[in-house]
Amino acid sequence: MKTYVWSLPTRVFHWMLALFIFITYIISEEENLLDIHAAFGYGIGILIVFRIIWGFIGPRYSKFSDFPLNLKEAVEFGLNIFNPKKEYAGHNPAASFVMIGIIIVTLLVVISGVLAYGIQDAKGVFAFLNSSLFREMKLFKEIHEILTTLLLFLIGSHIAGVVIDRIFHKENGVLESIFKGYKNIDATSIKLNIFQKMVATLFLSASILIIVWALKNGSPLTKQSNQEYDYESRAPLFYEECASCHTLYPPFLLPKKSWVKIMNNLENHFGDDASLNKDTNSKITDFLTKNSAEYSTKEAAFYILDSTKGRQIAITKTPYWIKKHKNIDKNIFKSKKVISKANCKACHSKIEKGLIEDNQIKIPEDVI
Ligand code: HEC
Ligand code: HEC
Repeated sequence: MKTYVWSLPTRVFHWMLALFIFITYIISEEENLLDIHAAFGYGIGILIVFRIIWGFIGPRYSKFSDFPLNLKEAVEFGLNIFNPKKEYAGHNPAASFVMIGIIIVTLLVVISGVLAYGIQDAKGVFAFLNSSLFREMKLFKEIHEILTTLLLFLIGSHIAGVVIDRIFHKENGVLESIFKGYKNIDATSIKLNIFQKMVATLFLSASILIIVWALKNGSPLTKQSNQEYDYESRAPLFYEECASCHTLYPPFLLPKKSWVKIMNNLENHFGDDASLNKDTNSKITDFLTKNSAEYSTKEAAFYILDSTKGRQIAITKTPYWIKKHKNIDKNIFKSKKVISKANCKACHSKIEKGLIEDNQIKIPEDVI
């Protein structure tokens, strides 16, 4: 006999969640796609809030009260996995634990992600936390990554469960049920009331709308709170003397110690003589050391400081810079449009205004 167990909203939720998590995960390594990653993250957040509400007001088998969350039963189920004693119209005990785990961990992944986005990138709804918590940016990023690994493990368990079920109990039609809604089981079919339909429509559309909204220019969900800094008018001497031969390197990209070393040895500056008179030198040194990596809440400043500790004097020699650029073809740096690794502005269009935004990184086309 066929029983209708998964309503349309439950199935749509399932596939949207799977798709959103997939997209968010595969682009997570791409710096310039961070805003899209965050936008889908917000979408996942709405989906999870919906699923939690659905667990209380939804149809029978989707309700948390219908989940056989009993450890003893789960152990018994596990021991008899190939020949279960009892049939479950909704989730079996093992699946129930995995589902609850997925819901909780996904929610935590979203929360930690939005926090990391605010604290590290000064973006989104928690951007205001950047100024006070920037020293903890690594911690929040790591928490987000650890939770993601845990989520992948739970998703893996879920898929393994489906596979086992498919091999040994194909007749129940569990896999088909997430497409069509029916299981080959003798139980009571569900039916949605108008209130449930309205709540589901509202949340499922909201999860898509929030992504569209987040991707709109200037949306508060992805807005960067770091401002452009006009070195030309605010530090004219530095601008004049230090941006004539190469990109203007914003002072927050090196620690104090590195700037002092550079300024003490301008006669022999990377093979050039860039020496200045004493007065100019001390004024620029003063500006650089007062605005060095130590005093910046920016992501690049924090990680450069963390990785170099003032040992290197070239930004391009810091372990952080090397790590961030290791996937770029060496020939690109030697190409006509880029010329040198030190020519940051070829790829970071606003670096001379103090911004190294993830979404503004662009390797020039046809470079080789
Ligand atoms: C006469 C030209 C000249 C002037 C003026 C000059 N530089 Fe340089 N600078 C160079 C050259 C050449 C390099 C090496 C660039 C390369 O590796 O392609 C360099 C490299 C650097 C680097 C390392 C870039 C990297 O690879 O990460 C820093 C930092 C730097 N300069 C700071 C300054 C500062 C601060 C001033 C102003 C006081 C300044 N420069 C003025 C010629 C100059
Ligand atoms: C040939 C192009 C190119 C040049 C030249 C270049 N970069 Fe980059 N940079 C990139 C790309 C691409 C990424 C993103 C890498 C990734 O996705 O992990 C990046 C990433 C970064 C990041 C990390 C951004 C973040 O938010 O995680 C920093 C900081 C950075 N670059 C600084 C510099 C500085 C400073 C210079 C010059 C000394 C420079 N880059 C030169 C292409 C370039």
